[in-house]
Amino acid sequence: MKTAIAQISQISPKKELLQNRLVITGLEGKKPLAGTIRISGAKNAALKAMAAAVLFDGPVTLENVPDTADIHTLAEILIRLGAKVAFEKDHTFTVTIDPTTIAGTAIDAESAKTMRGSVVLTGPLLARFGRATFPAPGGCVIGARPIDLFLEGYKKMGAAVSENGQYDIEAASGLAGAEISFEKISVGATETLMMAAVLARGTTTLKNCAMEPEIVNVAEWLNSCGADIRGAGTPTIAIVGTAGKLLKPSASYVTIPDRIEAGSYLFLGALCASELVIENCRPDHLQAPIELLKKAGVPIETTADSIRIVGNDGPNTSFKAFDLKTKEYPGFATDLQAQAVVFLTQASGKSDVYESIFEGRFKYVADLARMGAAIEQTSQREVRIEGPADIHALPEGEQLNAHDIRAGFAMVMAALVATGRTALSNIHLIDRGYESIEAKLSALGAKIERVNN
Ligand code: UD1
Repeated sequence: MKTAIAQISQISPKKELLQNRLVITGLEGKKPLAGTIRISGAKNAALKAMAAAVLFDGPVTLENVPDTADIHTLAEILIRLGAKVAFEKDHTFTVTIDPTTIAGTAIDAESAKTMRGSVVLTGPLLARFGRATFPAPGGCVIGARPIDLFLEGYKKMGAAVSENGQYDIEAASGLAGAEISFEKISVGATETLMMAAVLARGTTTLKNCAMEPEIVNVAEWLNSCGADIRGAGTPTIAIVGTAGKLLKPSASYVTIPDRIEAGSYLFLGALCASELVIENCRPDHLQAPIELLKKAGVPIETTADSIRIVGNDGPNTSFKAFDLKTKEYPGFATDLQAQAVVFLTQASGKSDVYESIFEGRFKYVADLARMGAAIEQTSQREVRIEGPADIHALPEGEQLNAHDIRAGFAMVMAALVATGRTALSNIHLIDRGYESIEAKLSALGAKIERVNN
């Protein structure tokens, strides 16, 4: 079924859920969940492919796009710029984006506030139209999230950047190839500069790049449509620009499975499922968490596209605690940090967890402590956990909050291992990154429902 553009503009179906809550009945430390979870397409890859659509001379087709709120938000932003976007829902989304009608190059403040990731659009807009405008950052719940690496890269490629409550980036005669060595490893800056360089004059070399699989996924698609990107997935990426020639939509983009969704269910399964099959995923993208969980004693088996937890009926106390430091890919993903911490509250022993990517990612820790977890924030970037601790629901009338997408999922995990019923609010944040969380968990036997306030 094809959804017309007019309907897409009302997408905010997720927005009307803003006030909803998830009510979760705790499993009291037992592991009765069992079944199969099918992993959706990676939102962090599909979002970049949607942005890259701006580089094309006709409508592009994106397959296996997840039905998550961030995808709708970026679609709205593209529509506001003048693009035509259509969604077709089978069991996954196929999104068609026609960039040929784009008339604007300014991302409005409201959109940028809802999704800071929309900054990736500046690269393709600048590449195609020679200008892009993005609101000056106002901060973000998981850290400052500056965009200095993007701006420095654009300047190296010949663009002028002026700031006046917003960043106006201009390269009237097009971007020029350049050598850009990122001071810091950034997923967004790597992807955005890579996309910007696709239409530039000459060759751009990006050094100290992020190596996330989502970058490779988008680069391979762009290459199949006329781009010349070499080295995606390694620290150095070289892009030979087309000198303004737009890409041809000769191949559809197919979104890779979401490794963060899969990793989240992996931690959840280790905690509360006696058996769990996570299918349609890429275990090779999850080596760091799989290795840690295996060392902790979780019975995990993998095939090329599935992860199985089998015979996990013993007590959580039989799992050994581990220390953890988040790192850029292929290290342990910051987006799985909170889920790992909830797992560690139930394992035996002490753990130190260090967050090296974002400085503000422990806001959920106080909530876990209120639920009875033995957890203490020892510095801005570090927490210490001593497990196992009995976790209980909050007193009547109090509810948990999802602080960000991933911490929201971690709170669902905490509520599942707790004694009692927990209400979790702010769940529009979970919806930003997890497709149909309550349906997927109910199918495993969890008692979880979405209720209106
Ligand atoms: C992406 C993911 C996010 C994930 C993160 C790290 C998307 C939509 N989001 O976010 O889920 O948690 O990668 O794996 O793909 N930085 C600067 N200057 C910049 C840009 C970034 O200092 O110009 C810093 C950030 O503040 C942060 C670090 O670099 O400390 C890494 O951030 P980055 O990799 O850019 O994260 P995102 O691409 O925003």
